[in-house]
Amino acid sequence: MSDAAKQLIGTAMTSASVPKPFAAYAPSNIALSKYWGKRDHARNLPLNSSLSISLADWGSHTQVSPSDDGQDHVTLGGKELALDTPFAAKALRFADLFRTHAASAPLRIDTNNTIPTAAGLASSASGFAALTRAICGCFGLTETLSEAQMSLIARLGSGSATRSFWHGFVRWDKGTREDGADSFAHPLDLNWPEFRIAILPVDVGPKSQSSRDGMNHTVVTSPLFNSWPDQAEADCAAIESAIKEQDFETLGPLVEANALAMHATMQAARPALTYLTSESWTLLERLWRARQDGLRAFATMDAGANIKLIFLKQAATDVMEIFPQAQMIDPFSKP
Ligand code: DP6
Repeated sequence: MSDAAKQLIGTAMTSASVPKPFAAYAPSNIALSKYWGKRDHARNLPLNSSLSISLADWGSHTQVSPSDDGQDHVTLGGKELALDTPFAAKALRFADLFRTHAASAPLRIDTNNTIPTAAGLASSASGFAALTRAICGCFGLTETLSEAQMSLIARLGSGSATRSFWHGFVRWDKGTREDGADSFAHPLDLNWPEFRIAILPVDVGPKSQSSRDGMNHTVVTSPLFNSWPDQAEADCAAIESAIKEQDFETLGPLVEANALAMHATMQAARPALTYLTSESWTLLERLWRARQDGLRAFATMDAGANIKLIFLKQAATDVMEIFPQAQMIDPFSKP
């Protein structure tokens, strides 16, 4: 069975031009309705659709250029990496998907992340999206390939990268085709200028287990996982409607429940998997108490200990008072 993303690269590469330097930016994103579980590992196809909000100017700037000394080079934050470090190895493996069609083409890949290190957010979503754009640009494919097609290709690097091609709210349809041709993202074309996100950093170091390993372990061993794909699909549809109606009172509880359900599937895994620490739970309890006192903010958590809050602009002062460590993002500000 073929892989639609690889086929797309193959077809596009027939019109590839001489590689030239190309720089691209992609924002990071936070899922409001989570992707958790794959139906196909080789093609990186999800079991459920997901929906995210992009983080404006928090993201990755990546430049891909032909290398001038016949060797591959990868830099991150201005530092040259050994080619066997995980970041460099993953980036080059991804570049190889294009290079099988363009002989050797040694490349230089320079990445700078603008996500504050202190926020402890992973950058693989923005990293693979920016890398996809930059490689496509380097080989002259940005005219040939649409944004949706690049989103489909980025999925091979990391699932969440599929959603990092646009600002604002983005939905990744899981698709049903075996070759993955219908599994890519599209933006929900709407502006919600009052919508805010705050990151409450808990652990800013590297995560204990990658999301990839964590989701695979959960799918294989958690008896609670069986109920996840249908529930997640229903949540995604309900979350999309609430966003379209700009109905925050419906949206907030759905987003929080979806994240907690994902974490419940992990806790039921055997052995149990938990990314949340006692500090994460303390923050959640503080949030729930504040909500009883009227705060309109809701939490979401990914494969890490940090808590992310969503709320509307009018709650920003209260959020900052209760959580002075919050790092605030206005996702609809022009990056
Ligand atoms: C919990 O996109 O990192 O953040 O496709 O294996 O690279 P791979 O996984 P990844 O998983 C993200 C999981 C999540 C939820 C989400 O972003 O939807």
